[in-house]
Amino acid sequence: MTIQERNILSSNMASAPGKIILFGEHAVVYGVPSIAVPLSDLRVKVNWAITKSGNLNIIAEDLENKEISLKPNMSDINNPFARIVQQILDYYDATIPSGYIKITSDIPIASGLGSGAAVSTAIGRAIAQMLGYNISNDDLNSFVFEVEKIHHGTPSGIDNTVIVYEKAIKFKKNHPIEPLSISKPFNILIADTGIPAPTHEAVGDVKDLYENNTDNIQNIFDDIESIVNSATEAIKIGNLVKVGKLMIQSHKLLQALTVSSRELDILVETAIQSGALGAKLSGGGRGGNMIALVPQTKIEAVKHQLLSAGAKRVLLTTVK
Ligand code: PMV
Repeated sequence: MTIQERNILSSNMASAPGKIILFGEHAVVYGVPSIAVPLSDLRVKVNWAITKSGNLNIIAEDLENKEISLKPNMSDINNPFARIVQQILDYYDATIPSGYIKITSDIPIASGLGSGAAVSTAIGRAIAQMLGYNISNDDLNSFVFEVEKIHHGTPSGIDNTVIVYEKAIKFKKNHPIEPLSISKPFNILIADTGIPAPTHEAVGDVKDLYENNTDNIQNIFDDIESIVNSATEAIKIGNLVKVGKLMIQSHKLLQALTVSSRELDILVETAIQSGALGAKLSGGGRGGNMIALVPQTKIEAVKHQLLSAGAKRVLLTTVK
């Protein structure tokens, strides 16, 4: 037994999933509904332990080897790790426990798969457990949303909501969450361009476009809104051909918002040419991931073509 292990008073673990946005990214910031699903196989996991004495060390080797040591009366509330911890301590009127939180993550960072919100969610659950509480999703969601502001500036709240509740949702800013009704499970291939995509930059550029050309951009948001509503119906009745067509239309509108890129367009085109029912970028865009709706019999062929066309990694998820 190591010295550290001998000092442990209690320990446990917590986790949170990644996510993909199926429809409505960017427009969701302006009040349009959007659809997102959790990626339960792709997770952030944290192991925590309370020790007899010392600081609270948060160690995240998968996230560019980040490590921070939090002391009582910490001041760095612009650090996302410190911010989630501080909010939970304030909520329970507690002082910082001694111990550590070790984070491991399967979710690539800055790729539109919700890494930031998943890390905050898992740390939030862990710190509440360390204090002896099982925090409610409603409370945790509002705290993770605050941390999202550090990552994204003006987040809509979709990432934290789908990740904290770990449910397929139709989300509209400042409205109660609507669960998404799915009659027929469907397969989505997620292809990574390998290009980091800082969401706040794309969101900032869309804001400039909106301010300089409000009528045109509002028309695009209106079109996205009708796509999201049609997609909700198509998913509900299992009309996957329709869902695929709506994805293709969505991608064109996202191109008009300037948030696609050559690499994303190539992957979208490749997926459609090799048998996907539809494909689009997912999340902030510019880089990050593309998603394709693929019939069971075409999965291997589409995956192969995506890798040949330059995808750095292709994952499969079943939405159900
Ligand atoms: O975190 P990302 O890259 O999946 O982007 C979130 C979706 C946006 O609509 C682009 C931003 C937001 O806050 O909703």
